[in-house]
Amino acid sequence: MKLEPLPSPIYYRGPISFPNIKLYSMARTEEKKQRQHGMGRHLVLFPCPLEGHLNPMLHLASVLHSEGFSITIIHTHFNSPDPSNYPNFNFKPISDGLQDEEATRTDLMAFISDINVNCKVPFQDCLVRLLLENPQDQIACIISDALMHFTQAIANNMKLPRIILRTSSATSFVTCAAFPLLRQKGYLPIQDPQSEVMVSELPPLRVKDLPNIGTDKLDNLYQLVANMINETKTSRGVISNSFDYLEQMAFAKIRQDFSIPFFPIGPLHKYSSGHSSSLLNHDHSSMAWLDKQAPSSVIYVSFGSLAVMEKTELVEMAWGLANSDQPFLWVIRPGSVHGSEWVELPQGFEEKTRGKGCVVKWAPQKEVLAHPAVGGFWTHCGWNSTVESVCEGVPMLCWPCFGDQRVNARFVTHVWRVGLHIENGLNRRLIENAIKRLMVEMEGEELRKRIMVLKENADCCLRKGGSSYESLHSLIDCILSL
Ligand code: UDX
Repeated sequence: MKLEPLPSPIYYRGPISFPNIKLYSMARTEEKKQRQHGMGRHLVLFPCPLEGHLNPMLHLASVLHSEGFSITIIHTHFNSPDPSNYPNFNFKPISDGLQDEEATRTDLMAFISDINVNCKVPFQDCLVRLLLENPQDQIACIISDALMHFTQAIANNMKLPRIILRTSSATSFVTCAAFPLLRQKGYLPIQDPQSEVMVSELPPLRVKDLPNIGTDKLDNLYQLVANMINETKTSRGVISNSFDYLEQMAFAKIRQDFSIPFFPIGPLHKYSSGHSSSLLNHDHSSMAWLDKQAPSSVIYVSFGSLAVMEKTELVEMAWGLANSDQPFLWVIRPGSVHGSEWVELPQGFEEKTRGKGCVVKWAPQKEVLAHPAVGGFWTHCGWNSTVESVCEGVPMLCWPCFGDQRVNARFVTHVWRVGLHIENGLNRRLIENAIKRLMVEMEGEELRKRIMVLKENADCCLRKGGSSYESLHSLIDCILSL
């Protein structure tokens, strides 16, 4: 297979784009000092309480704090972040009416809708209390997750500006915004016979790549998506955990269709100083195990914090991994197999893979991906996992489960061409074959070369003069002008 060159990293303009960089940074330092001395630069953040949403919001909070803003995080009791990890932030828990830990596994859509209803009054009360506690302290704006659309009405009531954080890909956001058109044209709801049909309005997506959340209450899903899009349009801006080089088409579409400022400042996890914001405890034994493996030899397997599979799928995965004869680090999250909190791996698997495999309940993923022994990532293509893999130059095996993951997987395999897609069900032969293609064959080498170009661009966009660096400073200017 011939490797076609990727476009050159034109979005990194480098420090020369500032005619007087010294003056510019002096002005920035002065502004930052002013913010540190109060000046009403107080931000209130409200995350969606799910791992893949909470982490980027906390990273954003850290970035803005380092830029001189004071931070209050209003959060639900459910999946509450650990305040001891963030001594500089003010944490305010609110009641959420969420009692069922199972909710995120069984009906994610109902879970999100419930938060949007249950948190309205407590969120507003909390804001009022904040203002009464310290009347001098102006709230510059509310920054909330795009899925927490109810916060727009509260912001309006309180005459506070709201900015959105979009934690998933910009492309999936554009796809969600196109739902009315996709329904009108008959692509949605997805019907089996036409699942392979190309969506000509959103290339290279096929019908089966469109976001889906596995619910029979489709009207509720469409309403939730419509609320998210409409309340984004009435907000004062959108922050995106993505970067120019990766999703320039989607950025152009958002800028054209949403007449509000758009700030792609990602990858957000790259700004952080390293402490974990994970809701689950990382098992660091996986790092010691990786230390003993040969460079680029290990396939890392993890499907994020929400995906749930069938027991039969787990069995096929196990044998596919074993038969591939590649070293593997496999995260099996408790509760990630339907109907059981923990699962027994098939008989004979342990003997066959002894010395070759490491299974943990939750790994320090960012460190794992950065480890030189890791040569591939079998992922569900959650947006954080996708971006984290790009940032470490690790090619992917994509097995998307629901929601935006299908859109992301299609882009990984057919736009950036840095991964292979496992489609049409899991079976051990198919898995074994895909792992070998990724890890040992020439095809994997080509994917690795391409993802290194994305990695370089991810590094560049955060440096002074890079696209995300500039967007971050436009965001700060925007907040200061509100
Ligand atoms: C959810 C949705 O499922 C996803 O589609 C959406 O894009 C974001 O919200 P999740 O499924 O948890 O997220 O996946 P992902 O976005 O990849 O986030 C998982 C996070 O957990 C990553 O930051 C990853 O580093 C972390 N993680 C995962 C660990 O720290 N350890 C692990 O073992 C696995």
